[in-house]
Amino acid sequence: MTQSRPRWFTEHGDGHADSYIERFRRLAAEGSDLAGEARFMDTLLPRKARVLDAGSGTGRISGELHARGHVVVGVDVDPALVDAAGQDHPGPRYVVADLATLDLDEEPFDAALLAGNVLIFVAPDSEPDVLARVAAHVRPDGVVVTGFGTDRGYPIDAFDRHCAAAGLVLEHRFATWDLRPWRADASFAVTVLRRPPAAG
Ligand SMILES: C[S@@+](CC[C@H](N)C(=O)[O-])C[C@H]1O[C@@H](n2cnc3c(N)ncnc32)[C@H](O)[C@@H]1O
Repeated sequence: MTQSRPRWFTEHGDGHADSYIERFRRLAAEGSDLAGEARFMDTLLPRKARVLDAGSGTGRISGELHARGHVVVGVDVDPALVDAAGQDHPGPRYVVADLATLDLDEEPFDAALLAGNVLIFVAPDSEPDVLARVAAHVRPDGVVVTGFGTDRGYPIDAFDRHCAAAGLVLEHRFATWDLRPWRADASFAVTVLRRPPAAG
């Protein structure tokens, strides 16, 4: 188990959370489309699904999934972001926790989402733990969806090995959230993984 801190904290200066929160407030005020990942998720989900937004940030995706009738728990390691999510996107429940050691006392989720480069911002070498802990919170036959830049230090082949080790089966991969086809030289990967159904 890794002991180091998420890159989210070590690669940015003080006040990063504030500027990040402000950036998303400004984009929302300008009417930018901040819901693409939530629309993608919604197509995969049964109605009133239970969704884990892993690395929920400002809550933009949690809030949109909640508005679509899903029951959402957002988890993030940064307390400032969890505060902002509760203010800006009320409805989901937001929890401060590290995904690498996640242990929620919760009924299993129908789906989990790690969007917006969460896997780039976790602690170095903690990706296998993060994927395993997120997968452990999803019910058999439930989905895990990830989106991250493939040229930012976490190679896609390492990711695929870590997913397999976490018991997740690759179902689909795209180059964008609006389903541009995957290519080996794509700089972003959206991946849909599934836990195998329960035996018997
Ligand atoms: C670029 S933000 C994306 C936020 C959100 N998913 C979105 O797309 O709007 C990356 C997020 O990952 C969170 N994060 C990084 N490492 C984490 C960890 N070990 N556990 C929980 N959250 C983590 C950061 O705090 C930050 O909110």
